[in-house]
Order: sequence, then structure tokens, then C-alpha cells
Amino acid sequence: MNNRVMIFDSTLRDGEQTPGAKLNAREKVKIARQLARLNVDVIEAGFPISSPGDLRAVQQISREVKGPIIAALARTVKEDIDCAWDSVKEAEKPRLHVFLASSDIHMEKKLRKSPEQCLKEAVEAVKYAKSLTNDVEYSLEDATRSREDYILKVTEAVIDAGATVVNIPDTVGFAVPREFGRLIKLIKTRVPNIDKAILSVHCHNDLGLAVINSLAAVENGARQIECNVNGIGERAGNAALEEIVMAMVIRHDEYPYSTGINIQEIYRSSRLVSKLTGIPIPLNKAVIGINAFAHSSGIHQDGVLKDKQTYEIINAGLIGGQAAQMVLTARSGRHAVRHQLETMNYRLEKEEFETFYQKYLELADKKKEIYKEDLEAMLIDVSYTEPTYVLEYLQTVSGTRTIPSAVVRLRKGEEIFEEVSSGSGPIDAAYKAVERITKIDTDMENFNLRAVSRGMDALGEVSLKINYEDKNIIGRGMSIDIVEASVMAYLDGINKLIRIINNSNGNQMGNIAKAGS
Ligand code: KIV
Ligand code: ZN
Repeated sequence: MNNRVMIFDSTLRDGEQTPGAKLNAREKVKIARQLARLNVDVIEAGFPISSPGDLRAVQQISREVKGPIIAALARTVKEDIDCAWDSVKEAEKPRLHVFLASSDIHMEKKLRKSPEQCLKEAVEAVKYAKSLTNDVEYSLEDATRSREDYILKVTEAVIDAGATVVNIPDTVGFAVPREFGRLIKLIKTRVPNIDKAILSVHCHNDLGLAVINSLAAVENGARQIECNVNGIGERAGNAALEEIVMAMVIRHDEYPYSTGINIQEIYRSSRLVSKLTGIPIPLNKAVIGINAFAHSSGIHQDGVLKDKQTYEIINAGLIGGQAAQMVLTARSGRHAVRHQLETMNYRLEKEEFETFYQKYLELADKKKEIYKEDLEAMLIDVSYTEPTYVLEYLQTVSGTRTIPSAVVRLRKGEEIFEEVSSGSGPIDAAYKAVERITKIDTDMENFNLRAVSRGMDALGEVSLKINYEDKNIIGRGMSIDIVEASVMAYLDGINKLIRIINNSNGNQMGNIAKAGS
């Protein structure tokens, strides 16, 4: 049996049925062009009878997008089929996709028609579609909740009527893999004319089984899979195209089938569909979620740095994405932090690195993720000589109808100094308390506060200039608490000032050395 599996993409039809995913014609054409680059076999471009806008979008796709078959959906009603044909007739390779329910529950409760009536309608509709084009697909809606003998009867009849593809949808995502595989095998072995048509499956994800059900169907003879980019679709969505394709690529030993998909276009297709439908890709989404290529635990990071194969089965580059990322957190070890610094062209000596790493751990305890920008800012901030004053404790109070005040405790060698002060704001109050301790009277200018990385818990960096006699010194501080960052910047300036004066002029040493004592 031929092992080539056709990929029928329904992102623009079933995918667009996702609540909130409505696309306009321009967006649909853009996605269709990308699906052609992805090299899907079939693009189901829409359900043209559903709206004039959809009809126009399918027409435009049919005219402009070359390569894949362009399919349009229709109920077993002449008006629907005419409209669908009107939308795809200009396509290079048009297909009409006709469907009607086959389960008792749908026929009785929704259609209020007998199985015989439905069978007759199905056959007539396929014959009519066939009079318009050769490529006709027929779907037995809710097949997995239909009686097996009825499925076999309908399948044989629609193939006799001219259907070239028969699709078995798990419309409500009810099937489980073994049972679904058995159903496909039953159709393959018991429908006498089945070799005249391609057997297709269309699985919904209500139980999270859409991908594995599709693969089970392929193992039992299905040769077309209907699926959607990012797995979007009605309710819990449809089988995810990228997961099916990559399962066949990565586990070719178990799934020895091929598709025509250009896997280098998977990442781009996924991002485009997410952007235009407004449906975000879950961070942990298999194959294309951001976290699918991120390593966070220290043990994993260490392993991947030694050999990617330790924790990576898909290389992001394979699907056109970016190389795996290290997410530095409190759990990242020295190996990962050093590696990240090296990728940023920083090589620290052993001792420098140790100092840096301790600072890193302090920050990582406060902040969930550490970005490159954080590391860069920390590198600038790392001071390798012991500062004179170290901030031990800071508490500020501020708010509506409250006089801002601050308690600051500084350590100088073995000594501890504490001051309380009020001010026009919490930073001003804290600065006054620092001034009372250090007794160094400076002017301050160029106070600058900025966020150095992303997110609500971004690091704030404060830089400022302090002027003392003829000296102008830049101080910098960083913290996720901006008041703390401000005090650290001020102290950094003071410590540098003390160092400069102590180093350069013995006469002035006295003034400064006495400070705070
Ligand atoms: O889920 C379903 O049954 C469908 C058919 C129209 C193919 O989407
Ligand atoms: Zn569906």
C-alpha cells in the first residue's frame, strides 16, 4: 500500500469556526498563500454558502493561490453545491466537499430524516457535484457515533455515485484510537469499491485525542488527514497539522509514512495563523509552543549544553524556528549562566564569575526569569571592590494622605547605621536618611529610571550623577523594587566617590573616612 498521506488543511474552514477567529478575505488569502508554501495537498478555503464574504474569499483564493487543491464545503443541497462550485471553479485544481450526518442522533434529532432519506440525498448530491467537477469528497458527519452497517452502506453508495474521497469525521471528538483504527480497517476491508476512493479522516480534539486518532487511522489504511494549523477549530479544535507531520518525521520508525509538507514552513505558518486569528499559541503547545524549545531546569540546561540530544528531540531549526533557548531562572546552574554570558561575548575570570554568579542568584530569587538585558545590566553593575556602604535594610512608606518616610540601615565594615527620615516622596525620604548616615553632602542630577527587561517583574535600573566639589560621579542601581534601585544607585555613587578620594588624595581622606562615624 502506498505510504503517502495527503494533508488536507481546514484552517480556513473548520479552523475559522473557532470562536473569535473570524478572518477577512485579505487575511484568508494571506494564510492560503502560506499554506501553499507549506505545501499542503488540499486547502479547504471555506463554506461559501455561509456568507457572501466567505464566498468572495474562496473565489479570490481559487484565482490566486496555485499548487494545492482548493476545496469548498457544501451541504447536500443544490444551492450549496452551486455556490461552492461558483467559488472554486476558477481554481487550478478545484474540489467540492459535500457532507451530511450519518448518526441516528443527528439524523433523528437535527435533520429529522430517516437513514434511507439521508442516503438518497447523499447519493444525489454526490452525483450532482460530480456533474460539475471530477474531484468530489463526501463526509459522513458524526461517523464515529453512527451504526457501522450504515457507514459501510453510505461509503459504498457515495463511491458508486462518483466520490473520489470519503471522509470519516470524528465530529464530536468521541473516538478513542483503538476503536477508530478498527473502524477504518473495517471500511477498508468491507467496502467493495473502497479502492476507487481515498479514505480520509477528520478528528476533533474534545478528549485531546485528535492527533493520535488520526495516526491510528493512517495505520489502518486512511490516506488523507484533515487537520488545522495550531490545532484550532470548532470547540476544543481539530487535529494539529504540525503535530501529525512531525510525529511522522521524528518517529518515522513507527509511522513510516510521508507527506508533502515542507516542514521548514511550519513555524512561519503557525505564527501567521495565530497572529491573524488572534488565537495565541499556548506556551507549552507541542512542536511550536515557545516552551517546546526552552530549557529551564539546571540539569536539563547542563545536559543540552553538553549534547543537545539529551533533552531535545526536535531541533527548532528543522521547522524553521529559532534555536532552543535557555531560560535562566533560579534553578539554572553555573554552566548555563556562563554559557549565556559567552554567547553575549563576555568571558569572566573564575573569581569575577563567582561574584557575578552570587549576584545572579540574588536577583533570580526575586525575579522569575532572567533575560539577556538583565545580565548585561548586572555586568555593568558588578563592582569587584568591596563597597564602603552596603544597604542592609530599607523600608519606605508612601501613599495618599501619608507623609512619605523611610528607614535605611547601612553597614560599613562591622558597623551598622540606621536613620529614619521623611521627604517629598519615598525616594527623597530614603536619600535624606542615607545622607544623614554618610554625612556626605552632594548635589544630584540626571536621575534616570528605566525598565531593563520585559514583564511586570522587569528589573528597574536607576542611574544618576552626584557632584561633590569638582567630582562628578555616575551611580547605578538595579532591583525589581524601584525605590531600592534608587537607593542602590545613590550608594553606588557615594561608594565610588569615597574610593576615588581615598585613592587620589590623602588630605581629603579624613573628611570622607569620618563620614558615618
Ligand atoms: O467535524 C465535521 O464533521 C466536519 C465535517 C463538515 C467534515 O467538519
Ligand atoms: Zn469538523
